[in-house]
Amino acid sequence: MKNTLPKFLLVLAIASFGSAVAQKQQAIPEVEALLKKMTLEEKIGQLNLLTPGGGVATGSVVSKNVEEKIKAGNVGGLFGVSGPDKIRQAQEIAVKKTRLGIPLLIGSDIIHGYKTTFPTPLGLSSSWDMNLIEQTAQIAAKEATADGINWNFSPMVDIARDPRWGRIAEGAGEDPYLGSQVAKAMVRGYQQKDLTNEATMIATVKHFALYGASEGGRDYNTTDMSRVRMFNEYLPPYKAAIDAGAESVMSSFNDVDGVPASGNKWLLTDLLRDKWGFEGFVVSDYTSVNEMIAHGMGDLQAVSALSINAGLDMDMVGEGFLTTLKKSVDEGKVSEETITQACRRILVAKYKLGLFKDPYKYSDSKRPKRDILTDANKKLAREAARKSFVLFKNENNTLPLSKTAKIALVGPLADSKNNMLGTWAPTGDPQLSVSILEGLKNVAPNARITYAKGANISNDTSFAKKVNVFGPRLEISEESAEALLAEALKAAENADVIVAVVGEASEMSGEAASRTDISIPESQKVLIRELTKTGKPVVLALMSGRPLVIMEELDLPVSILQIWHPGIEAGNAVADVLFGDYNPSGKLTATWPRNVGQIPIYHSEKNTGRPAPSEAFEKFKSQYLDAPNAPLLAFGFGMSYTTFDYKNLQVSKKEIAQGEAIEVSVDVTNTGAYDGTEIVQLYLHDVVRSLTPPMRTLKGFENVFLKKGETKTVVLTLQADDLKFYNGSLDFVAEAGDFEIFVGGDSNASLKETFTLN
Ligand code: BGC
Repeated sequence: MKNTLPKFLLVLAIASFGSAVAQKQQAIPEVEALLKKMTLEEKIGQLNLLTPGGGVATGSVVSKNVEEKIKAGNVGGLFGVSGPDKIRQAQEIAVKKTRLGIPLLIGSDIIHGYKTTFPTPLGLSSSWDMNLIEQTAQIAAKEATADGINWNFSPMVDIARDPRWGRIAEGAGEDPYLGSQVAKAMVRGYQQKDLTNEATMIATVKHFALYGASEGGRDYNTTDMSRVRMFNEYLPPYKAAIDAGAESVMSSFNDVDGVPASGNKWLLTDLLRDKWGFEGFVVSDYTSVNEMIAHGMGDLQAVSALSINAGLDMDMVGEGFLTTLKKSVDEGKVSEETITQACRRILVAKYKLGLFKDPYKYSDSKRPKRDILTDANKKLAREAARKSFVLFKNENNTLPLSKTAKIALVGPLADSKNNMLGTWAPTGDPQLSVSILEGLKNVAPNARITYAKGANISNDTSFAKKVNVFGPRLEISEESAEALLAEALKAAENADVIVAVVGEASEMSGEAASRTDISIPESQKVLIRELTKTGKPVVLALMSGRPLVIMEELDLPVSILQIWHPGIEAGNAVADVLFGDYNPSGKLTATWPRNVGQIPIYHSEKNTGRPAPSEAFEKFKSQYLDAPNAPLLAFGFGMSYTTFDYKNLQVSKKEIAQGEAIEVSVDVTNTGAYDGTEIVQLYLHDVVRSLTPPMRTLKGFENVFLKKGETKTVVLTLQADDLKFYNGSLDFVAEAGDFEIFVGGDSNASLKETFTLN
């Protein structure tokens, strides 16, 4: 084998160690020795992240002359490139053609699987199954690293309480407790215990911070909130991911307290590093440094200086660092030590990945065949999908269906491979996904299935154009709406049951896909109404990346299975549930509103001084004149083909001291006709405290499998920290007093117990 050692390793022997290393960071002798060799320009080069294009470009810029820039030592990492051979070529340029031979970070957005696409994250979170989520991340890492990638721009852990915001699809929903568990599971899955393992990659917590609170649900918009809300409700998942060891953080597009996150020193240094002790590196979002010009923070030199001084280490695509930092150093606006420190953090990441030992460790051309799209990976995708589905309604117990039924399968998403993967799946191939039609045929070969499209996803051509930027997702048929409908009704004529696959196309949610009207488009509403008029049982398999407004549909005599965008095994997983091979067990992780006017909406709301009356109308109460305060579908809600009964809620102690844990037990019985899994949930209410408390907030859950007729005692432990909150001084404290707990199958759980913290 040729000697492919980076040149700098050869000089290590003569390098002197032990130079001053910034703050807490542990000195890595190899990195310190290398830093000593580097010119200011070479250090600035490491802070530059480019994309040669070919992937998804989410800004208006794509990098140019990438190869020349690498050769010139002006690039620290690339993203949007994959394949072991291509990555080897890129590393070869970096290692052999530059003065110091520093290998590249190779990033990518692997949000819900690499080639084996899992359900969109909001769907996946609806499984409430942390082992499963960790396994999906582990498989994503195995596949991505086989294809040359060593750094993932995931997990996205932004709390989202506004379903108009399309990126609610990319996270775990509204709740900081659940969101924190998911964040940890994903970091564990991507990084595992050892980053030098060739099947692991660096995790990036994003988008730091508060991106999910964009005003009006409009993407990239301003955010503004109190510190106590930030600390209690929005920051916990980022912190959980960092505590779990995430090596990198991505700053968000939005401003926080009036300063864009990418240039916000309070966020990136005071909080992230000084308070939370984060030692990894921070990368900007796509051109978010440059975008600070539009935010009104100055010219490119000013915003670049602001960012690096705030604690941002790497500049994604915009090249503001590359083109202005030297000048800022010369003018005394940025210190060389600040640049050295940012560079150090990036070199440490490369060191931890083992790239200095072997820059080609992710370039094994035998791996893709061995590790990508294996049967085992696809099996996990099928399991993940079926566990993500949430049953909203089972009219006259229509479900599960018989495998010999005569089925009219209709709807614009019933035979659409293009929409199975969901948003942010640029590494997946939609054509490899199993359509719903194919899945039904696979699982029930003896069923008699007649298919008809029935309607377009939407008839609005200008809307379709916006949805189709990444490919054909919303295709409008040549046929008239009337003709499409007639075909569906014809297919229904001889059917025992109608299954209508309706909802959102993949790119109707996701980045830059905010909607002000989150109902099912009118073209499909018409289809659904007409189908119910046939008098036949109708099952809606409802696809979306976000909570929708489905007031009308829920009132119709239909069954509804929410299937999100299920991923590569979509059709098989849907069929597993429709035919009862898997009993649905998912529960909502974001509240579904009655109408857009209720937004923002979430389960952990506070009481007001004037709570809405439970009975007759009274003036001067906190309520709407035209709709109840309660959502359409509550956080934690989801039905099963069986039923569960909760009894005998007990606490291990009625009084506890500070620092003590308490056990909560409940008997759960499967009282219905099918075996099934129930997600037992525990909510807490701190009755009196120094900051107005939420009426109830999730503090524990467990997935329990029960055979029909079986009872299990479920024990959930409330740890001392679960009673704590950030008070007005932002100290994390538990205040003495009474607590109420509620346990059940959703956030309206009525079984109640109390205890006192002394
Ligand atoms: C998104 C990020 C993503 C980045 C790189 C941005 O537009 O906000 O989530 O990681 O693009 O693709």
